Amino acid sequence: MSRLPIVAIDGPAGAGKSTVTRAFARQMGLVYLDTGAMYRALTWWVLRQGADPADAAAVEPLLLDLDLQLSAGGAGEQLVSINGFDVTEAIRSPEVTAQVSLVAAHGCVRQALTAQQQAMGLKGGLVAEGRDIGTAVFPDAELKVFLTATAAERARRRAQDLERRGFEVPPLAELEAQIAARDHQDSSREVAPLCQAEDAVELVTDGMAIKAVIQALVDLFRERVPEEAWPAANGV
Ligand code: CDP
Ligand code: CDP
Repeated sequence: MSRLPIVAIDGPAGAGKSTVTRAFARQMGLVYLDTGAMYRALTWWVLRQGADPADAAAVEPLLLDLDLQLSAGGAGEQLVSINGFDVTEAIRSPEVTAQVSLVAAHGCVRQALTAQQQAMGLKGGLVAEGRDIGTAVFPDAELKVFLTATAAERARRRAQDLERRGFEVPPLAELEAQIAARDHQDSSREVAPLCQAEDAVELVTDGMAIKAVIQALVDLFRERVPEEAWPAANGV
């Protein structure tokens, strides 16, 4: 292997990807890459510039000279800045959530952000989560996991998440409908849609505690990746 291992975690909104991937990365000494945060940051910028998120011709010029930076914060958190603005919290707002799938559907956007993600993965030693990691960004990842749960369970989790972050929590039925609409948009777009890679392991997490999901990832990693290839064994 000419690089350290890569783990790809894909799945629909609210499946628990960010939560479990962050903890798994810390436990295994892997770099954590939340690719959704990149699409969210770009969406925040598009809205701030007053551009129409649905219009590729309006979004494309914003990709020139884009300064999108990810860095590690405390407790394994990923800090995000765009063109000098720290948007770590702002990108979780309902406004950004409502528009992000429109921005993420443009071919020019996918090309730019995928290239940046692949550059970050050149040396390996990372776990990336998103929608197209195992299919488009890192198709040669050593371990691919498709993390999912029913829409009702994901809506419940999203409600807790919004409450914790201090945002207004819509009724559960409304949240479930929003999640289903985003799943549909993400799965039906032409370029790099959300879909399970053929060689991905599916983990359905309804009723599974966070700890149990993290342990399942650790077990899969140990099973698939020989210990001498782990970042810790390579002085990382
Ligand atoms: O946290 P949540 O599951 O709500 O979403 P996210 O992972 O932050 O991603 C937000 C949106 O970005 C998704 O709904 C997709 O439209 C887009 N996305 C994508 O197209 N490709 C990725 N690799 C990651 C996210
Ligand atoms: O990144 P993604 O949208 O897939 O999900 P997330 O933001 O990591 O998780 C959404 C919410 O579900 C968070 O509040 C997690 O604490 C919670 N969660 C859970 O209750 N049980 C799990 N097995 C995984 C996540």
